[in-house]
Amino acid sequence: MMIAPTLPPELRAALDGKLQGFSRTDAAQRSQKISTTYRAGGGSGTIKSEADALAYALARMPATYAAVAASLNALTEIVPEFAPETLLDVGAGPGTASWAAAEAFPSLQDFTLLDANATLSRLALELARDSTRLAECRYLPGDAGGNLAEVSQADLVVASYIIGELSEADQRRLTEAMWAKARHALVVIEPGTPAGYARILALRQQLIALGAYVAAPCPHEKPCPLAASDWCHFNQRLPRSQAHRQIKGAEVPFEDERFIYVALTRTAPATRAARVLAPPDVGKAEISAKLCTEENLAIIKVPRRDKAAYANARRWRWGDAVIAES
Ligand SMILES: C[S@@+](CC[C@H](N)C(=O)[O-])C[C@H]1O[C@@H](n2cnc3c(N)ncnc32)[C@H](O)[C@@H]1O
Repeated sequence: MMIAPTLPPELRAALDGKLQGFSRTDAAQRSQKISTTYRAGGGSGTIKSEADALAYALARMPATYAAVAASLNALTEIVPEFAPETLLDVGAGPGTASWAAAEAFPSLQDFTLLDANATLSRLALELARDSTRLAECRYLPGDAGGNLAEVSQADLVVASYIIGELSEADQRRLTEAMWAKARHALVVIEPGTPAGYARILALRQQLIALGAYVAAPCPHEKPCPLAASDWCHFNQRLPRSQAHRQIKGAEVPFEDERFIYVALTRTAPATRAARVLAPPDVGKAEISAKLCTEENLAIIKVPRRDKAAYANARRWRWGDAVIAES
C-alpha cells in the first residue's frame, strides 16, 4: 500500500498528548542541542531524559517517518505482492519505522523494536500503548547486534537512521546480522548526505556479495554507476505543523528531508524500472531527466514533439520508478 509521508493520526495524537504540559521553548532548546550533537557526529547519545526523548521525537520523527514511508513505498511499488507478517525495527528509537511499516503493510502482526537507548525506547512504548497495531510490540533493550543473534527471523527488517551511529566494523557486523534475520526483505535508510550514501553503498555491496537483490532504488545489482563526486539521494517533502515550526524556529509550512535508502530482497524482483535521480529539467523543447537504468546511468531527453512520451515524462518526479519510452 502506498502511504502518505505524514504521521498517522494515532501517532500524532499520542505525541500531542505527550506535549501537554511541555514547554515549547524548552523543547526547542533541547532539540537544538540534540541536532548540534548529531551534526558533530555524536549520534543520539545526548538523549538522556524523557524531555530530551520527546524533543527528539517532535523535531525529527516527522522527517524520519517521511523518509521511511517513501522507502517502503518504493519497495511496495517494485514488489507489490510483499505482505510481511513480522518486523524487526533495528535502532527503533521512538518507533518511527514500526509506525510507517504498520501503515505500509496491513499484513504486519508482530513488531519487535531493538534499541540501546532506554529513554527513547520508553517513549516508543508509551506512544505505541494505545495504538491499534503496535500496542503489543516487543522491545529488546541493549546492543542490537547482540540481540539480533537471539531473535527469530522476521519477514521484514528495517534499520532507519542507525548505521551512521556505528563504527565501520560495527556497521559491517550489524549488516550481516540484519540480513541473516531478514526472511524476505531488508530496508536501510540514512541521511541523504555523501557520507550516508557511502554507508548505504558499502552495505549494498556487502549484501549483494551474500546473494541479495536490490528492489529499490537501483534497478540492478551492478556497481553504482555514479561518478565519485556525485551521490545518490532523494528528497521527501512533508508538511510542518505549527508546533513543529515553533520547535524548529522555522517559517515555511513544509520541510524537505534528504535521504538515501536501499531495499534488498532474497528473490529477484519481477520488474525493474529506471529510477529518476534528480528533479527533471522541463524545458521548452524537451524534458531532460537523469535516470539510473538497468544498463547504465543516462540523461534521457524527451522532445516535446514526441507527444505521448513527453506527457509521460512530465509526470516524472525525483525518486520515481519510471518506464522510459524510447
Ligand atoms: C537517529 S536514531 C533513529 C531512530 C529511529 N529509527 C528513527 O528513524 O527515527 C538512532 C537510534 O539508534 C539507536 N542505536 C544506535 N546504536 C545502537 C546499537 N548498537 N544497538 C541498538 N540501538 C542503537 C539509538 O539509541 C537511537 O535510538
